[in-house]
Amino acid sequence: MKVVPLALLGLALSLPAVAQNATKPQPQAAAAVTVAQTPPMGWNSWNFFAERVTEQDIKNAADQMVSTGMRDAGYVYINIDDTWEGERDSTGVLHTNQKFPDMKGLADYVHARGLKLGIYSGPGAKTCAGFAASLGHEDQDAKLYAEWGVDYLKYDLCSFRKDVMQAQAPNDEAGQMRLMIAAYAKMGNALQATGRPMVYSLCQYGWDAVWEWGPEVHANLWRTTGDVQANWMSIYEIIERQAGLAKYAGPGHWNDPDMLEVGNGKLSLAENRSHFTMWSMLAAPLLAGNDLPNMKPEIKAILTNRDVVAIDQDKLGKQAQRVYVEGQVEVWTRPLAGGAKAVAILNAGDDRVATHPFHLDLAKIGLHGPQQGKDLWTGQPVTLTENQALEIKHHDTLLVRIPQPK
Ligand code: GLA
Repeated sequence: MKVVPLALLGLALSLPAVAQNATKPQPQAAAAVTVAQTPPMGWNSWNFFAERVTEQDIKNAADQMVSTGMRDAGYVYINIDDTWEGERDSTGVLHTNQKFPDMKGLADYVHARGLKLGIYSGPGAKTCAGFAASLGHEDQDAKLYAEWGVDYLKYDLCSFRKDVMQAQAPNDEAGQMRLMIAAYAKMGNALQATGRPMVYSLCQYGWDAVWEWGPEVHANLWRTTGDVQANWMSIYEIIERQAGLAKYAGPGHWNDPDMLEVGNGKLSLAENRSHFTMWSMLAAPLLAGNDLPNMKPEIKAILTNRDVVAIDQDKLGKQAQRVYVEGQVEVWTRPLAGGAKAVAILNAGDDRVATHPFHLDLAKIGLHGPQQGKDLWTGQPVTLTENQALEIKHHDTLLVRIPQPK
C-alpha cells in the first residue's frame, strides 16, 4: 500500500463537503484527551469466542477479571467485538440482536465491578462478520453508545472499502485513502461530540501509515497490521513489523499490534512469555483474548506479572526500539520514567543451536560496564556485563529492568 503523507489541512481542501465537515473539530473536543494516557488494558471477546460471544460470556469475563486478580493488575476494559448488532428501526436507531438483550444493563453490570465496557462497529454498511455497521449513522450510533455507558469503540474498516472507497474512487488509491481518513474522522468527531470520554480504536490494518494521521482523527490507538493468530509465526511477523514505529506512540495515542493471544492456540510457555514481553515493550494495548474461566495458572502468571505490566504502562509512554539484530536474536530497548531502561533479548530462532550462546554487546545499546537489574520473568537480580554469554531458549525472551543504567 502506497504511503500517502498526510497534512489534514491540505486534505480538507480536496475533500467533498461532507468530509470537510467531518474533519472540523467539535467544541466538546476536550472530552477524550484524558483517556488512554497509558495503553488500554482489558479483555476482548474475539480471539476466543469470535462470532459465538453472548451477553453471558461478557458477564463471565467481567466476573473473572475480578476473581483472577486481573482487574487489580490493571485490566479495565471488557470489549465486545463483532456480532452484537441487530437491525435498525424506522428512525435509524440500531438495536442489539438476541444474544445481547440489554446493553445498558450489561454496561451497568460491568461498571458495578469497577470495569469499563467496549463495543465494536465500522465505517461501512456492514461489519467484517456481516452485521450492521455505522455508515450514515455515525452521530446516532455514537450517541447510543454514550447513552448505554460505553467507554471504548473499536472501529473496523471491513465493508467500507468495497461500499465506499472502491465504489466512489475506483482506480484512485489516494482518493480511496482520503475517503477512509474522512470516515474515521467522522466517527472520531461524533464520539467527541457526545461529551462522554470513549477510547477510539482504529482497525484498518495499518493502511496508509495510519500512525501518521491517527491522532488527527482523535484516535487513541490504531492497528498496525492484519489480524493476529494464536501461532508463533503470526506473532513474530507482527513484532517484525513494529520496528520503526516507536516515534508515533505516546500518551493518548498508541500503535496497536492487535490483541493478545496469550493462553490461546498451541503457543508454548516461552512463546506466550515472549508475546507478552514484546507487547509490553511495544507499549501495546494489553487486551487479553483468552478463555478466562479456564485460564491455566501459568497463563494467569504471565498476564498478571506486575513487573512486566509496569513496563507496558510506564508513564513516559515511549515504545521500544529494535536496537540490533544478530542472527535470529533481537535486542530491543525502551526508556522508562525516572531514567530507567528495559532491555528485551528475543531469541526468535527455530534453530536451537545457532544462536547459543548469545553474546550481548552492551555498548550497542548505549550501556557501559556492568549493569544491575532485575530479570522480570524470574524476579531475580541480574547483572548484565559486556560480551556476556546468554542462554536464551528458542522463542523465549530475557527481559531486564535496569533502574539506573550507566
Ligand atoms: C476483523 C478485525 C478483527 C475482528 C473481526 C471481527 O477481522 O481485524 O480483530 O474484530 O474483524 O469480525
